[in-house]
Amino acid sequence: MKIAEMTLEDLGTVAVLAAQLGYPGDVETFRRRFQAIQQEDGHKLYVAKSDTGQVVGWIHVNRESAALVADPRAEVAALVVDEKQRGLGIGKLLVRQAEAWATSQNLPLMRIRSNILRSDTHRFYEREGYAIKKSWHLFTKGLSGNAGR
Ligand SMILES: CC(C)(COP(=O)(O)OP(=O)(O)OC[C@H]1O[C@@H](n2cnc3c(N)ncnc32)[C@H](O)[C@@H]1OP(=O)(O)O)[C@@H](O)C(=O)NCCC(=O)NCCS
Repeated sequence: MKIAEMTLEDLGTVAVLAAQLGYPGDVETFRRRFQAIQQEDGHKLYVAKSDTGQVVGWIHVNRESAALVADPRAEVAALVVDEKQRGLGIGKLLVRQAEAWATSQNLPLMRIRSNILRSDTHRFYEREGYAIKKSWHLFTKGLSGNAGR
């Protein structure tokens, strides 16, 4: 197993795994977003690859937008491991890589928002040393005819 930076070639499998996370989309959509992220500073996308080169998980970590109310910090924006490969330590490797990147950026805190329904996942984060700080509602409003998410 190895961790590498995500490339355009990985996006087919990345999209399949994103659907397992609950965020389906076609490869073209992921390519467009990937390229937009590459234009911005403060983002890192990593994949976990099996010994045969198969993408089996991925993580997106970023520096949070600047805020008046908090010092700079890092956030895991997305994390998923192939549902057929869970429980093998791949998630742990990806989270450790994201933490190492955040540390290299002098970001002293990692935040992860996780749906309250993902209780198995919360066990994983707690095992990795994370603790629940807050629970909140997400409010959205579609603008200009957009349904919003
Ligand atoms: C959470 C997730 C990334 C962990 O990846 P992983 O490779 O299975 O994690 P590891 O093998 O390093 O750690 C295993 C631990 O994860 C937890 N876990 C969560 N879901 C699991 C699953 N389906 N199978 C096995 N372990 C799971 C368990 O606590 C397990 O520890 P245990 O075996 O001591 O009980 C992965 O289960 C996943 O993709 N889940 C669905 C998507 C998700 O919730 N992503 C995070 C959104 S915030």
